[in-house]
Amino acid sequence: MEEREISKAVITRLPRYYRYLGELLESGVERISSNELSTRMSVTASQIRQDLNNFGGFGQQGYGYNVKYLYTEMGRILGIDRQHNLIIIGAGNLGQAIANYANFEKRGFIIKGMFDINPRLIGLVVRGIEIRGVDDLEQYIKDNDVQMAALTIPKTKAPEIAERLVNAGIKAIWNFAHVDLTVPDDVVVENVHLSESLMRLSYRVCSMQDKLEKEQESKQENKQEK
Ligand code: NAI
Repeated sequence: MEEREISKAVITRLPRYYRYLGELLESGVERISSNELSTRMSVTASQIRQDLNNFGGFGQQGYGYNVKYLYTEMGRILGIDRQHNLIIIGAGNLGQAIANYANFEKRGFIIKGMFDINPRLIGLVVRGIEIRGVDDLEQYIKDNDVQMAALTIPKTKAPEIAERLVNAGIKAIWNFAHVDLTVPDDVVVENVHLSESLMRLSYRVCSMQDKLEKEQESKQENKQEK
């Protein structure tokens, strides 16, 4: 397929398409129309058509989309057809929760090691992954061909560790620490902040409640006027 630049907005939506297409494949569906996919995903059919047009002309009138082809192409574009070696810095609650989640490996993310400064944690093994001290961090990254690091340490420590990681050749940081990291242009950072997601949820539920209350108030006012 011809290489073309995919917009950031489409890339943000790709993992969700990828998940749905994977589920369709698992249930034996070979092709699907944008209308059917639209109903399943609660996205408009035109949005789906626009997004999937980035993957060539496989959406044919009367045929729909070839599920396997799209799934494979999206996996390739997301880079999950390759292996990514990952380390976790900070083996506390969150770091260990990530290490315990075996499904990342199915997507090609191999957790090669965990690091911490707490002597009580160093030497422990989480799902087969040993927690190491940070002294040999740089050497470990080089020896194990590691390109990605998850940062699950306090925000005050994150910039210093991020600098060490970048100097050691890390190209991608999955940042859970609540701080914006400054990195060179050839390094990418994906911030994951559950509390921000929770605040968005709070905003939505509060707006909905406010709207309902206003509707009820205006209904009551109308009644009183009558
Ligand atoms: P935790 O206290 O259980 O674990 C933090 C670990 O980092 C500890 O084991 C500590 O020894 C280690 N550590 C501290 N400095 C270090 C350094 N320089 N190098 C290596 N390890 C170091 O904390 P928890 O709950 O696991 O949270 C970790 C971080 O993630 C915190 O910054 C927290 O605010 C953040 N967090 C972020 C969330 C998100 O959605 N982004 C959700 C929950 C926590």
